[in-house]
Amino acid sequence: MEKNYIGEVFSKNEGEKVKLAGWVHTVASLGKLLFINLRDSSGFVQVVVKKDKLDPAGFDEIKGLGRESSVIVEGEVRRDKRAPGGVEILAQKVVVVSASNKDFPIRKGVSSKVLGDYRHLSIRSRKFSKLLLIRSELLRLFREWLIRNGFREFSCPTLITAACEGGATLFELNYFGKKAYLTQSSQFYLEAGIFSLEKVFTLQPSFRAEKSKTRRHLTEFWHLEVEEAWCDLNGIINLEEAIVADVLRELDSKIGHEIRSINPNFSPPQKPFKRITYDEAITLLSREGIQIEWGSDLGADEEKILVNIVGGPVFVTHFPKSTRAFYHKPDPQRNEVVLSNDLLFPKVGEIIGGGERISDYDVLLRRIKEEGYSPEDYSWYLDLRKYGSVPHAGFGLGIERILVYILDLPNIKFAVPFPRTISRIYP
Ligand code: 4AD
Ligand code: MG
Repeated sequence: MEKNYIGEVFSKNEGEKVKLAGWVHTVASLGKLLFINLRDSSGFVQVVVKKDKLDPAGFDEIKGLGRESSVIVEGEVRRDKRAPGGVEILAQKVVVVSASNKDFPIRKGVSSKVLGDYRHLSIRSRKFSKLLLIRSELLRLFREWLIRNGFREFSCPTLITAACEGGATLFELNYFGKKAYLTQSSQFYLEAGIFSLEKVFTLQPSFRAEKSKTRRHLTEFWHLEVEEAWCDLNGIINLEEAIVADVLRELDSKIGHEIRSINPNFSPPQKPFKRITYDEAITLLSREGIQIEWGSDLGADEEKILVNIVGGPVFVTHFPKSTRAFYHKPDPQRNEVVLSNDLLFPKVGEIIGGGERISDYDVLLRRIKEEGYSPEDYSWYLDLRKYGSVPHAGFGLGIERILVYILDLPNIKFAVPFPRTISRIYP
């Protein structure tokens, strides 16, 4: 349908004709006048309806409209200082497309449980619409950055047969009588993809049966994963730094005012990000009185403390082998650590996990056996090391995690339209 968006009307001239289509937020009546606060995807505007412009039945119908009724309004632009935003629409014709039931469940003061149960309706709010706009822009900028830098989008399966990130968080399902799982990461398939396209990425959901309820874990999250042939640990860290810093700067320049309407303190982080090893990290933590036994992973609390000590984003590298999945390449100088990295961010901790992969067949086979997996399950993945194996590296970035940072969200469930957590799979 040919129509104007509400966002456009504020730059129009007095008397210009517009056709708006949207949803009634509120209707207030003042004698022979009605004031509709009308919403569409681009914002809100006040529509004034005069009784003498419409037939009496039409006037009364509009007066009685419930919140979220959908309408089409034709009218003209009035510049009026008293109207919100300095513009209102004087209606000449109002068509009610669908009158809303009077029991719209999202009202001021309803509990977060109700907002969650009615997520299919609560995403219409002004704040949620902004948040979803920012999310969509972020996804677009990540894709564009990668394509601009020579990466190809490579689509990976969701139904898989072997764990990438350990068995504890696998969702199992019955695949015509065989065991299958929902993917935890598309990494192994991207590793196959580099032999075809060299620089690949995917942006798709990963699934983790996370048993714990935290403010930064979802059971289904959107995962931006990148894999590059002929790349080492240092190369992949440089890539992670460049994409994150560039995309956040671009996001800020495009819609910084929208971001700051949700998180007034947002400013994009500047390159270079600090780089420390795991060993340096545990030394820094021990100076703060936090003792980490060498070989244990860092938890969310420790990550946040590290970020505070360093004063901004920080790469932690060279984790002990015991803390990482089997595919990470052991450091040739020091076999007990792997060429891995995490990128830690303020407010949320880890947003990226990545590193260099084992490219040698025998080493990979040994690591699979050491971890107690069966080599038959990884037979196709092992094949990649048989036919012209190359050094390669990659990473995975959690889209919702980075949104928690950008918007300073109290919980990751607000970073996605329909969150999946241990306690929620509806709506
Ligand atoms: O550190 P992770 O587990 O690494 C991998 O899956 C690698 N295979 C990625 C790769 O190298 N291609 O996950 C990567 C990122 C984390 O840093 C985090 O941002 C996000 O995915 N993530 C989650 N986000 C929300 N909820 C969860 N349960 C998450 N688990 C991981
Ligand atoms: Mg990780």
